[in-house]
Amino acid sequence: MTEQSPALDNLLTESRTFPPSEAFSAQANATADFYAEADADREAFWAKQAERLHWDTKWSQVLDWTNAPVAKWFVGGKLNVAYNCVDRHVVDGHGDQVAIHWVGEPGDNRDITYAQLKDEVSRAANAFESLGLSAGDRVAIQMPMVPEAIFAMLACARIGVLHSVVFGGFSPTALRSRVDDQAARIVITTDGQYRRGKAAPMKANVDEALEGAESVEKVIVVRRTGDEVPITEGRDLWWHELVDGQSAEHTPQAFDSEHPLFILYTSGTTGKPKGILHTSGGYLTQAAYTHHNVFDHKAGEDVYWCTADIGWITGHTYIVYGPLANRTTQVVYEGTPNTPHEGRHWEIVQQHKVSIYYTAPTLIRTFMKWGNEIPEKYDLSSLRVLGSVGEPINPEAWIWYRENVGANSAPIVDTWWQTETGGIMISPLPGVTSTKPGSAQKALPGISAKVVDDQGVEVGKGGGGYLVLDKPWPGMLRGIWGDEERFRDTYWSRFRDQGYYFAGDGAKYDADGDIWLLGRVDDVMNVSGHRISTTEVESALVSHPTVAEAAVVGATDPTTGQGIVAFVILRGNAVDGGEQAVQELRNHVAKEIGPIAKPRQILVVQELPKTRSGKIMRRLLRDVAENRQVGDVTTLADSSVMDLISSGLKSGK
Ligand code: PRX
Repeated sequence: MTEQSPALDNLLTESRTFPPSEAFSAQANATADFYAEADADREAFWAKQAERLHWDTKWSQVLDWTNAPVAKWFVGGKLNVAYNCVDRHVVDGHGDQVAIHWVGEPGDNRDITYAQLKDEVSRAANAFESLGLSAGDRVAIQMPMVPEAIFAMLACARIGVLHSVVFGGFSPTALRSRVDDQAARIVITTDGQYRRGKAAPMKANVDEALEGAESVEKVIVVRRTGDEVPITEGRDLWWHELVDGQSAEHTPQAFDSEHPLFILYTSGTTGKPKGILHTSGGYLTQAAYTHHNVFDHKAGEDVYWCTADIGWITGHTYIVYGPLANRTTQVVYEGTPNTPHEGRHWEIVQQHKVSIYYTAPTLIRTFMKWGNEIPEKYDLSSLRVLGSVGEPINPEAWIWYRENVGANSAPIVDTWWQTETGGIMISPLPGVTSTKPGSAQKALPGISAKVVDDQGVEVGKGGGGYLVLDKPWPGMLRGIWGDEERFRDTYWSRFRDQGYYFAGDGAKYDADGDIWLLGRVDDVMNVSGHRISTTEVESALVSHPTVAEAAVVGATDPTTGQGIVAFVILRGNAVDGGEQAVQELRNHVAKEIGPIAKPRQILVVQELPKTRSGKIMRRLLRDVAENRQVGDVTTLADSSVMDLISSGLKSGK
């Protein structure tokens, strides 16, 4: 097992529990029986969950695992994902219900009903078909949180086209590598985006990314900021010109349950991001089931708000697919949480009477920093369920969330999952579970997770090791786009004999057998809930002409969970390694990957600690980055290297 940081040790001494109130339990969607029911017959349990959806053709088999690790769920079933998320609610008489209360950063608003959503998605689907797109094609989307981003995703789903959303903060280089990897035919973007009160360009970045991109035939541009943008004749189309005049009638076609739905790129342990592939029936079943039970969502009553960006899996599953499949009324907010003031989220909660709020620990810690007096100014009494996702939540932040946002009563669901899992896997069930600050606790009914040692043997209560998923689940990834070998290697080779999925996270059981997540055990960092690989940042650094070698580690950070710390060796006497050179390197990484990957700190060193086989010992660098005493150096090829690094840093060299 890898070493733990002091923050995680604190986490493990936490022993408070918060049982659900009787009133909450009495009205909760989930009941304790679910666990036994799912254990008795998992497939029957999932079949029941799939009945939440509208199937044009019913499946003949729940699970086909004969070609493991590529699962088939609801074999032979046919459905249209967009029909499930939109049309059927209109058919059922809920066309006038608001689907999306959209809140723009500068203060503009749009309320979109399910009937309007159906029209918008149908028009976009007609428009996409008019461009010759058909089932199986790929469309890349790089957009801020505007309603058209959601229309575009659903329109793709409606015609069987795979969307691949690329986070708006990713650089042109990052966008390009994703567009090329999937050979996207169309890219959808906006002229610009509002960020912290200012309009920033977006189309210009897309233009830079697409220079010479062979697969891209058209770029569709949504007008958002109104700033002028260069238009490439023959390639670029305005969304309003293309889509607005289309018919609002579009007949959805039913696709196979295993028809691919989307690709979403995420960082792995190598420099090249992985295109995680998700399919239709199983994914939507898990999205709808988990959203209904983990958030205790009541259609037509609750107002739900997930603060994620659609560029991440949380935005896919818990803004678009799960909530809309469940006929949710939700808030979608375009901007940053402190624009124009630090109470913006609470103002929105108060205005829209948000009852379910789902966010990330990094934001909770930021709210803590801004002060209790900010949420105190608003009426948050509508809130009844609070969620957390993206990284382990430290007990202090959990308690702050409960006291200052949840009025000491709203259950907090700490939800563990990944891009690869498609939906929530480990989480308390509100109204059922006595919650514990900092622990995601239990695999959901129908899901199976274990903590195992190096050999794949389950550890006992109080023991620590690796988190594995030992049984297939409906929302599981079906592969890595174009790289089946990497799929098998990354997730299924570590515990091949047992056939377990290796999640890449360390975990521990407490004395009650509840699971505590302890962060990544591989070379993936988690910065503000965003996954970034150390190798990705290292390759960005060494692509700069002054850098000879680089090693990157994630160091504990009080706000962002982890911060990126880079150690670089400069080429010969290229530069002096002073402040300016370091600043240039930080900007270079932002340009190569995106601002989220900008190292918090870059330390110029003479040597890097390596084993005899040449592997960089990041553990030792992490000790330096976290100002700890440097650990065991006996496996280093040259054990004096760490002295050199430490003394160089002290003398400021
Ligand atoms: O390390 C775990 C952490 O985030 C990783 C997955 O990142 P990503 O695919 O970007 O998806 C994030 C949103 C689902 C995991 O391997 N993680 C996510 N949620 C939690 C968590 N760690 C601890 N507790 C959580 N609740």
